[in-house]
Amino acid sequence: MKIAIGSDHGGFKLKGEVIKHLKEKQIEVVDFGTYSEDSCDYPDVAEKVAEEVVMKNFEFGILICGTGIGISISANKVAGIRAALCCDTFSAHATREHNNANILALGERVVGVGLALDIVDTFLNAKFQGGRHQNRIDKISHIEDKYIK
Ligand code: RB5
Repeated sequence: MKIAIGSDHGGFKLKGEVIKHLKEKQIEVVDFGTYSEDSCDYPDVAEKVAEEVVMKNFEFGILICGTGIGISISANKVAGIRAALCCDTFSAHATREHNNANILALGERVVGVGLALDIVDTFLNAKFQGGRHQNRIDKISHIEDKYIK
């Protein structure tokens, strides 16, 4: 499994913890920035990671900002991205099972490191259930076709 990861300055410290955690589990992870705590713009990083995921260069993306909100909103503007902001483990497995989410978003200022790492593990270990859920995802794609120019 290959993971693309990125954050703004607000998610920089948690990004480091997630990278360390994934490497300890022998999961390949590529860091698309930001590379310091200097202020930067979360849409820039969201776009890079989202592109890598829709191009299928990586199975999943992980995006982190202060709240997880701005970076997930940004990633969801890329057609084919289903970025899910998760603050609990139930949402982390449900969004894989039902929404086939391909990016996990986290908020460094919202969740502690321990919970964040549990959310990451839960998200990566859960499987999409297909069936009626695929029909709903197809409807999301139709919305993209209609409104994303
Ligand atoms: C940066 O201060 C902060 O606005 C950003 O990390 C994020 O929380 C935006 O949604």
